[in-house]
Amino acid sequence: MRRCAVAGARRPCLPLPASVTRARAHRSYSVHVQQKKASTAQPQAPPVNDALFATSAVPKAPAPRPDPYALVAPQLKELRETLLNLLGSSHPSLTEIAKYYFLHPSKQLRPLLVLLFSQATNGLGSGWYIKKWAADCEGAGGRAEELDQPLTRADVLNDWNPSMPDNTASFSSSFSLRPPRPPHQPPLPPPFPPSLHIPAVEAPAALLPTQLRLAQIVEMIHVASLLHDDVIDKSPLRRGAASAPAAFGNKLSVLAGDFLLGRTSAALSRLGENEVVELIASVIANLVEGEILQLKAVHADALGLAGLSPTVGQDNWNIYLQKTYLKTASLMAKGARAAVVLGGCKEGEVWKEAAYAYGRNLGIAFQLMDDVLDYEAGDATLGKPGGADLQLGLATGPALFAWEEHPEMGPLIKRKFEQPGDVELARDLVRRSSGVERTRDLARAHADKAREVLSVLPDSDAKAALEVLTERVVKRTS
Ligand code: FPP
Ligand code: MG
Repeated sequence: MRRCAVAGARRPCLPLPASVTRARAHRSYSVHVQQKKASTAQPQAPPVNDALFATSAVPKAPAPRPDPYALVAPQLKELRETLLNLLGSSHPSLTEIAKYYFLHPSKQLRPLLVLLFSQATNGLGSGWYIKKWAADCEGAGGRAEELDQPLTRADVLNDWNPSMPDNTASFSSSFSLRPPRPPHQPPLPPPFPPSLHIPAVEAPAALLPTQLRLAQIVEMIHVASLLHDDVIDKSPLRRGAASAPAAFGNKLSVLAGDFLLGRTSAALSRLGENEVVELIASVIANLVEGEILQLKAVHADALGLAGLSPTVGQDNWNIYLQKTYLKTASLMAKGARAAVVLGGCKEGEVWKEAAYAYGRNLGIAFQLMDDVLDYEAGDATLGKPGGADLQLGLATGPALFAWEEHPEMGPLIKRKFEQPGDVELARDLVRRSSGVERTRDLARAHADKAREVLSVLPDSDAKAALEVLTERVVKRTS
């Protein structure tokens, strides 16, 4: 029999009445609860005097809509700070590169999605009580400090991470046989019969330590992909500073990306949820598939993939949208779904389908807008002049739509804008077409779909913030 850490008594971790567990969530050190003070960062509406409105017949002002970033600002800050602890290595320069992109501010859109979807759905899944119990109960594997502890012997797993000196084995002598550890006996889970579960979103909003760790994992994977991408694209700049390849060289940048994926894999397995491991592992494969699809569209001959090269035609739209999903939307869709699975949503429950559909639509809208911005002004902070995609040989939404109005675009797309004057001509054809506006409309249609999907969720601040995000994505200017 194991001790229940929160109650401190030697007894199985048994369920308490709902009123008690809700009250306890406020002081739990394991389940992160959105405290009142955390929400002070949100824009505050002036106090509403209901009685006054009742007598004066003035229509009631709509509830202020939460700013998505402000709603989870303390958690985003915490995860940024603690993420660096996952990246220590025996090689200082490897550590330096692995941390490099985390030192410049990013949009943190992927972690934001994980946190907001967690808050919007925690309490709904029929396995929520077990997940909440695991976050509270010593030895059940879901507490924040347990996620930092290796499952395998520390000196075997972490040889070594200087940020975790207790888990580090010395190399000054040969490695001797160690006594085996006593087998781990997990505590008994509480016997909640599923029939007692009434889906209701946790109030105040709650986040599990596993979900915070997942938010870090998705950002690490994103950064690993950028380290590789900047080598492939030969980008000199990233977020207004020298890119990792420009600062450290190609080889170290690729290795740092691989190192991040290694640390990510260990962190992922500690979440203790095979479905989440499978989802996130498939995202890594998707990112590579998306990059290959894009490379193939441009460099098929050089890569020996000429036989697989797409023919110019309707295929281009399918390939473009498939690439957009694989490179951008997959991480958002599966990251959000994984967050909901960690909150105890089981197969057959709609919440994780909503997370996937939302993330997929939002991710595609986000990338379509990226492709619009590339034509409109470029992105100086990313070192991209306007039309940078054309220079890379890429036909994105605006060029594909322009082709429908100007057939002369077809040959340019087919030869990847590689002849002198092609890029300028293609840019002009896009300007003289409705390509940019139609791409923006397509982005809006995906963002609207993402918003619509949210209607299956109960109202909450997190849901309102996710709605705001669908509007922000299509209005963004950088
Ligand atoms: C940015 O694209 C890049 C990506 C979204 C993904 C790149 C994926 C790989 C290089 C495959 C390897 C993946 C891993 C996980 C190691 P972009 O060039 O359109 O955007 P940018 O302007 O920000 O560079
Ligand atoms: Mg790039």
